[in-house]
Parts: sequence; structure tokens; C-alpha cells
Amino acid sequence: MEQIILQYTEFLTTNSFLLFAYLIGSVTFILGLKMLSHPETARKGNLIAAGGMIISIFGTIFLYKHHGNGLGNYAWIFAALVIGTIVGTMAAKKVQMTAMPEMVSLFNGMGGACAMLISMIEYHNDATPSTGKLLIIVLGMIIGTVSFAGSIIAWGKLNGSIKDKTIPGGQMINFLLFGGIIGLAIMVVGGFVGADMAHMLFYGITALAAMYGILFVMPIGGADMPVVISLLNSFTGVAAAFGGFLYDNPVMLTGGILVGSAGTILTILMCKAMNRSLKNVLIGSFGAAKTGGAAGAKDQGNYKEISLNDTAVLLAYAQKVMIVPGYGLAVAQAQHTCHELEKILNEKGVEVVYGIHPVAGRMPGHMNVLLAEADVPYEKLLEMEDANDQMGTTNVVMILGANDVVNPAAKEDPNSPIYGMPILEVEKADHVIVNKRSMKPGYAGIENELFFRPKTSMLFGDAKKVLQALIAELKTV
Ligand code: TAP
Repeated sequence: MEQIILQYTEFLTTNSFLLFAYLIGSVTFILGLKMLSHPETARKGNLIAAGGMIISIFGTIFLYKHHGNGLGNYAWIFAALVIGTIVGTMAAKKVQMTAMPEMVSLFNGMGGACAMLISMIEYHNDATPSTGKLLIIVLGMIIGTVSFAGSIIAWGKLNGSIKDKTIPGGQMINFLLFGGIIGLAIMVVGGFVGADMAHMLFYGITALAAMYGILFVMPIGGADMPVVISLLNSFTGVAAAFGGFLYDNPVMLTGGILVGSAGTILTILMCKAMNRSLKNVLIGSFGAAKTGGAAGAKDQGNYKEISLNDTAVLLAYAQKVMIVPGYGLAVAQAQHTCHELEKILNEKGVEVVYGIHPVAGRMPGHMNVLLAEADVPYEKLLEMEDANDQMGTTNVVMILGANDVVNPAAKEDPNSPIYGMPILEVEKADHVIVNKRSMKPGYAGIENELFFRPKTSMLFGDAKKVLQALIAELKTV
């Protein structure tokens, strides 16, 4: 304890400028995170937090002093910085909006790998660590490794290179692995084995943690992947916070804690929006089931189609139209065309609002980001509760590439895998027009009875092409 206090006092006295840089970094992280919670301030918040990160990184490189010496290894550090910056910038510029969860998962995996490597290096660097330090090293290594291995599997599953696989007895294997990791960690940290054995066990724990990460994510279904990524993200945050402890680095600690807690809160919010428990997501159910569901088993009857001309007339003579965007709108990249339709309707005196479901699309805030890209004014985006309140006064609901988030089975069919998930109650409006390419189900893999209901008309086709044709029709109405 005395040694730690001495070390910390030395750090404080020789690194006061660095600590100031870290203080700026920590404050910008908190400010940036706060600003990220609203679409209007999110971009600025991201830049502010990135600025704080740059100050913290360059502060560490140029201001850090230990016994009068700086960091050294500048060639290595700058080579890594340049490579990382180029790869990160290119990846972020190239990525399609629909592939964003994939990229987040890969980058998160890199964070987990960093935490794992930090723990390995520190384990090697200190031959006689205190029990407290050893505990931090081992915990950081376990959590970082699980996050790394799990995120890589999540990345592979999202880009289609790894298929969902339910391993027979998987839950029991995971339980045994978890027990093995805890048992070996107690032996290493508690000093119950000699130094050589402890070294071997340390790497044994790393291997078990990697296996646990792989097997933990492997059976989870595609639709649940964003929840798992958010959970793994929070793991990486916690592992980074352990790194902050190891290096007495307050900004790493703050950043890690913020990522850890934000990831946990996001995980809980996503589960709530789907009315599922985290346990239910982790041990799998509808996410993994791509077909079937009670609604799918029923004879749904006939659906009716609507022509472009009739749709244009219905929209042009409405007082209020609500657009419900979903994953298909993102796939079609039809956000700009959608905004164009909204403007034309406005010119004809029609009020247009958007009903945004919290889990529409494939990542949190997907629809908000998509529509912001097309400069749709934020005040037109209604959250689910407000949208449902306004549904009764809406003449036409125009569903663009959404499916699960408007499926009435979530309210009406206790046997449906999505039963209990709050939905946009589009049937309260006078007319419902659904645009999608076919009668195929959405991500939950279940049929949607809404398409067969009396108020609903189907307008088939790719969202962008249909909207373009609709705009042309509207100009003639
Ligand atoms: P989905 O239920 O996945 O439905 C999307 C629909 O878009 C599909 O039925 C598809 O039908 C249609 N589509 C695809 N490409 C299209 C195109 N080019 N033009 C027109 N339509 C097209 O989407 P949703 O309603 O947004 O629901 C999201 C789902 O993801 C929910 O199950 C939700 O629980 C899950 N999920 C989301 C999140 C987050 S955070 N957003 C997290 C976890 C899970 P066709 O193939 O017939 O065109």
C-alpha cells in the first residue's frame, strides 16, 4: 500500500501537465457522451470526445515522465498510430450504413485484444506483483479475451462468413469453461501454485477465456447480435478500465468506465425495446429461429395490392401521413428519396411525420441516423409512444421496408416469438400502405398478419424505385 501511495505521489508531482491533459480528456468524454444522446448534438459530441482523446494520447506520448525519463519507443508508437489512423479512417469512410454493426464489432474486438495484450505484457514485466495487481491483470485479461473472441465471432456472423450454430450441450460446456476460468484464476491470484505453474495456468486461462467468448456468441441468433455487441462493448470498457488501474492512468479509467456503463445501459434498453430479458437473448430464442412462429403457421388469407397511381392519390388527398421506416429503407438507401416525397407532400399541404421504432433497422438509432443523413428535420421524427398517440389522427401510414416493428402478433399472439415487444400500432390509422419487395418475413423470421388485414394494401418493389415512381406520379396528381 505504502509503495502504491509513493508511486502515485511521484506520478502526481512529475506529471502535473499530463494530469491536466487527462482531466481535459475525461471531461470531453463525459460531455461527448452526453451530446451523443441527441441526434442534433451527436456529431459535435463525437468530435469533442475525439478531440479529448487526441489530447490524452499526445499528452501521454510527450508529457509522461517516470524517474525523469519519457516514454521512448517513438518510432514504434508513431508507426502504430499512422497505420491505425489510416486503417480506421478508410474503414469508416467506406462502410455502408447497414454494415455499421459489423464494423463496431470488429473495432470492439480490437479493444478487447488490446486489454488482453496489456495484461499479458504487465504479467511478464512484473515478476513479483502484489495480489491486488495480479487480480487486476488476470481480470483484465479474462474480460478482454472474452470480448475479443466474442466480437470476432459476432463480426463473422454479421458478414455471413460464420453461420449460427447450436452446439449440443453448449450451455453445459460454457458453464464448465466459466467454472474452469474462475478456478484457475483463484489458483494464480491466490498464489496456490509455484511461479512456473502459475505462468502455464495464466496462458491456460487465456485459452479458456477465448473458447468461452467463441462458444458464448456462436449460438446467438442474428437479430440479437446488436444486443450481444453492445454487451461485448461494455466488457471491453471494463477491461480497459482495469488497464487504467494498472497504469495509474485516470483518463483510461474514466474512458473504460464510461464505455462499460454506456454499453450496459444500451444493452438493457435494447432488451426492453424488444420486451426480452438479457438471459432470454443470451440463451437464444427468436433471434436464432429464422422460420416458423405461431403466426407463420396460420393460413393468412389474401392480401390486396395497390397501384402507384392510387397510392399517389391517397397520399395527396390526406391531411396527415406517417412514414414508418425500417431496415428495408436502409437496404434500398432510399432516405433521400423519402425526404423528397415528404417535401412534395408538404407542398401539397399534407402534414408528414415519421414514426420511429427504437429497434427498427439493425442498430440503435439506425433510422435516426439514416434520416439525419437526408436532412429530415428532427422535430418530424416521433418516438414510438408519440407516434402511437398520433396514429388515430393519421390518414395514411406509409411503411417503408419495416416488418417486425409493425407486426400485430407482438400484441395479439401469446405464442408468437415476438409477443410482448412494443410495436407501432399502425392499424389505428385510416389506411396502411406497406412497401417491401415480397411477402417474405423480416428479421425475426415470422409472418406478419398486418399484410392481410382489411386496412392494409401492399405496394411491392424496392423502396427507392417505388418512391421515385411515386414522386413522379404525385407531380401529375
Ligand atoms: P425487418 O423486420 O427486418 O424487416 C425489414 C423488411 O424490409 C423485410 O421484411 C424486407 O422484406 C424489406 N426490405 C428489404 N430490402 C428492401 C428493399 N430494398 N426495399 C423495400 N423493402 C425491403 O425490419 P424492422 O421492421 O426494421 O425490424 C428490425 C428487426 O431487427 C426487429 O426484429 C428487431 O427486433 C431486430 N433488431 C433490431 C435491433 C436494433 S438496435 N435496431 C437490435 C436487435 C434486433 P422483402 O425482403 O420482402 O423486401
